Amino acid sequence: MKKLPIRMSFAVLASTALFAVLAPAQARGQFPEDYKNLKVLPKTTTKKELLGTMKGFAIGLGVRCTHCHVGVEGADFSTFDFASDERPPKELARQMLKMVRDLNANTIAKLNTGREKRLEVQCATCHRGKNIPPPYDMPTPPAPPHGAAPPRPAEAEKKG
Ligand code: HEC
Ligand code: HEC
Repeated sequence: MKKLPIRMSFAVLASTALFAVLAPAQARGQFPEDYKNLKVLPKTTTKKELLGTMKGFAIGLGVRCTHCHVGVEGADFSTFDFASDERPPKELARQMLKMVRDLNANTIAKLNTGREKRLEVQCATCHRGKNIPPPYDMPTPPAPPHGAAPPRPAEAEKKG
């Protein structure tokens, strides 16, 4: 990285506005520090952990914070009521979180795959960036034997 002239780099550090631009998660004000209504996540969850989890929810489902939280899209986070359970997807997300935890702890972790580096199920594993998981596009089954229609040219090409 190129060094900035001293005076300018000071200005950069001092400018919270520019900092907000560089850190998109904070573009709408500070992420809250005190949590009043954690029912599934541990009460000891840190700001960094919660921010990571919430980003995972939003990106995994392809939604904005307002999908689950009371607030106006684009407004400063300080105007949001994150503790409120008014928006139904928030409670659904709690149920999903419990399911994912249980899956990872009681099924995935105990699978005897022999793999050293284990993967875990995440919201995105099913959701793939959509709030309702998109259907899996099943590959065309192999051409049936005798008398059936020949495979489509595109299909034949792939096999050859
Ligand atoms: C898919 C739903 C969902 C999305 C999207 C989501 N959240 Fe959450 N959020 C939750 C749930 C569920 C909880 C409560 C977790 C619990 O009960 O342990 C929560 C809790 C919080 C809390 C703690 C509130 C309190 O005082 O208890 C904050 C702050 C928060 N979210 C911020 C955000 C931000 C910022 C975004 C966008 C980047 C976001 N969330 C996106 C579901 C969501
Ligand atoms: C094992 C697959 C799977 C995983 C993992 C999963 N979900 Fe879901 N989720 C689903 C399915 C399937 C539906 C849709 C059910 C239906 O048809 O109504 C759904 C629906 C939802 C909904 C309701 C739709 C909406 O937006 O109102 C929310 C919210 C949700 N999931 C949040 C989450 C979150 C947050 C996580 C990660 C903690 C997660 N899900 C992990 C399968 C999954």
